[in-house]
Amino acid sequence: MKPVFKPALAIQAGERLRGKVAVVTGIGSGIGRACAMLFAAQGARVVGCDIDADSAGRTVDAVRANGFEMDSLQPCDLTDPEGAAKLVEFACARHGGFDVVVNAAAFGAFAWLQEMDYQTQWRATLTGELDIVFLLCKAAWPVLIARGGGSVINFASANASVALDGSPAVAHCAGKGGVLAMTRQLAMEGGLHGIRVNSISPALVETAATRAHMAAQPEFLERALAKAMVKRTGQPEDIAWCALYLASDESSWVTAANFPIDGGATAW
Ligand SMILES: NC(=O)c1ccc[n+]([C@@H]2O[C@H](COP(=O)([O-])OP(=O)(O)OC[C@H]3O[C@@H](n4cnc5c(N)ncnc54)[C@H](O)[C@@H]3O)[C@@H](O)[C@H]2O)c1
Repeated sequence: MKPVFKPALAIQAGERLRGKVAVVTGIGSGIGRACAMLFAAQGARVVGCDIDADSAGRTVDAVRANGFEMDSLQPCDLTDPEGAAKLVEFACARHGGFDVVVNAAAFGAFAWLQEMDYQTQWRATLTGELDIVFLLCKAAWPVLIARGGGSVINFASANASVALDGSPAVAHCAGKGGVLAMTRQLAMEGGLHGIRVNSISPALVETAATRAHMAAQPEFLERALAKAMVKRTGQPEDIAWCALYLASDESSWVTAANFPIDGGATAW
């Protein structure tokens, strides 16, 4: 039997987020960039953010060149409480509030336990993967409450639930396990205010960083494909379509859920 593996659905214009304002972080690269492009194409007014001003600027230019609406604050370090507060202020100044927060910005360091430096790798990963989500949720919460509710989308990972075979990912797994657990609990708190909080757990998605990793270590890709049922890597658009559903009112009864968007990699 010849296997059939369909490619990711390309970004398409539509109206699924018409009337919504969406704050999307990490727009300079990968999943954050794809979410910003898709959300804008689907009618949202997008407010982006990234610590890397050049890459964020390129995403804003691409969105506007397609005829859609987007602003962005960059450079902005979201591991700093002041950075998170500035992004919220910026979005409120532009649009009077927002309905959606996509926490895609992240930084993680990879090293084996014995070689991992406590401050520059372990702490930096927990700050860059876990604190970064906490800080923007906290800063955004009063705005979402004032809005009468909203949708927060966090990124855990397949490695929040299963070990990453053959990779030095101890801090990353801890950070993503934290995002998964925090999301569930925030959903409980948010339920009182009409705020839904969900996580998406991708397996291997092609981005600049993961492409470099795959090039340096071909067995990394082989192992990932061996685990997948759909035998291709994920593309940022595969993830953005799930985020679009969670951002829209189509998912109004969905909270505290985790969506494994991983080609089946964690199902066995
Ligand atoms: N790519 C994958 O295979 C994969 C798999 C599982 C989970 N995830 C998760 O999905 C999310 C998005 O991943 P990605 O691969 O698109 O990431 P990426 O590395 O391609 O992009 C992350 C973006 O965040 C920005 N950023 C980093 N630190 C920041 C800070 N302190 N303040 C503001 N911006 C900052 C970076 O400049 C970059 O543009 C992350 O949480 C990641 O851990 C990714």
